[in-house]
Amino acid sequence: SRTKKPTASKFEFMVVSNRLPVDRCSDADDDGGDGWRRSPGGLVTALAPMMTKSDGAWVGWHGAPDETVRPFSHEGMDLVPVQLSSHEVELYYEGFSNATIWPLYHDVIAPPEFHRTWWDSYRTVNKKFADAVIRHAADGATVWVQDYQLQLVPRLLREARPDLKIGFFNHIPFPPPEIFAQLPWRREIIDGLLGADLLGFQRPSDAGNFMRSARRFLGASVKQQQVHVKGPDGEVTHIARAQAFPISIDVDQIRELASNPEIIERAKQIRKDLGDPKTILLGVDRLDYTKGIGHRLKAFEELLADGQIKVEDATLIQVASPSRERVEQYRLLREEIEGTVGHINGTYDTIQNTAVRYLHHSYPVEEMVALYLAADVMLVTALRDGMNLVAKEYVTARSEDDGALVLSEFAGAADQLKQAFLINPHDIDGLKSAILRAVNLPPKEARRRMKLMRKQILDHDVDYWSAAFLAALEEKVVRDDS
Ligand code: G6P
Repeated sequence: SRTKKPTASKFEFMVVSNRLPVDRCSDADDDGGDGWRRSPGGLVTALAPMMTKSDGAWVGWHGAPDETVRPFSHEGMDLVPVQLSSHEVELYYEGFSNATIWPLYHDVIAPPEFHRTWWDSYRTVNKKFADAVIRHAADGATVWVQDYQLQLVPRLLREARPDLKIGFFNHIPFPPPEIFAQLPWRREIIDGLLGADLLGFQRPSDAGNFMRSARRFLGASVKQQQVHVKGPDGEVTHIARAQAFPISIDVDQIRELASNPEIIERAKQIRKDLGDPKTILLGVDRLDYTKGIGHRLKAFEELLADGQIKVEDATLIQVASPSRERVEQYRLLREEIEGTVGHINGTYDTIQNTAVRYLHHSYPVEEMVALYLAADVMLVTALRDGMNLVAKEYVTARSEDDGALVLSEFAGAADQLKQAFLINPHDIDGLKSAILRAVNLPPKEARRRMKLMRKQILDHDVDYWSAAFLAALEEKVVRDDS
């Protein structure tokens, strides 16, 4: 039967990501009694049907250092946990993944740190993930590796299991070779990735950056979207393709929540609780230095200082969900942002009105959609962002075709949401005037923009994304020598 497979069984389709798509939960009502709850987010929604219907399994870390969890099944999904020691969490996850690769791939907004001990741990842990796949994959299985924490896995898989079809998707940007060049292990990373048959990126520019690095650092020849990997004697030994597949969201879920009377009521309540201001502006981000929260606050503060926005008329709700709090740069950022918010509110608040309602929490998706419905203007001012799904969620939630989106051109979503107010967050004057235009947008113009943006997202949800990637992965490759 499909429901309970013995742990020794082999799988035809495997997804590998740093984290398993479940979280520990203590609330016994919520979890079907096994102590786990499916994590929110589009990726798991898109892949869950394949996990449950076909012979699929998900390989990933279960989130608890130093703890061994046996393979198990949750809501019909087979899960293969990878164990990490607390030392590995520190070196591989907090260190190499989030203090080396993350800042390096996001335009070195924070300085990346290069430590050989972190790199050693990254290699060891990537091997652990690859070994779990090698053990559990059926002959000729399809394996889809996710994101920057696992860039060495494709090569490890190809070497041990040439029978596998290997896909990789990079959820974050891929930097230009001039920046990537800083990485002491640049050759190993490119070589690790090139073990894949198909490499997916968010934007065409990310795929282009990757291919230029493959040429520059590994001497690969690049023909259109193909990277020809050569062996020691110069013969082409493998062809990897690199292409853009912009990720999206679970559109149906957001639309349903946005039409749910309780959530609509909750949105009204949020406005009321804030004293029914004329305008609510909203920012929703993980508290990350890539998100440009400081730039956004600066623009908002100057608008208050100029008198172009009045605290009696407008409130900025900033949700900053806690993230990677053991990493130094994230601690510094929190201090900085909270200092700035305190300064703005101390200066402009009245007993009745607050300029910035700052919330250092994460919220369930129901509350997020209520916030989207409550907000007249959504501010996405990332300095660099692979995609930014918040922008897509906001647009999807606006079923009345009202509201306005201010969107950074440095977020992948700018490729799809062309009717947003596109901004360069470093240009504070430009950002301020975009915010003012969004705040004062005539309803007719708002509708025109929102309609076009909604159509784009409604036609390209996360199922469309995964189907497009997997179809391309199955394609037979004809060598391009043009
Ligand atoms: C980004 C990355 C994901 C990561 C997520 C949360 O979206 O692309 O791979 O899972 O951030 O970060 P965390 O470090 O908490 O997994």
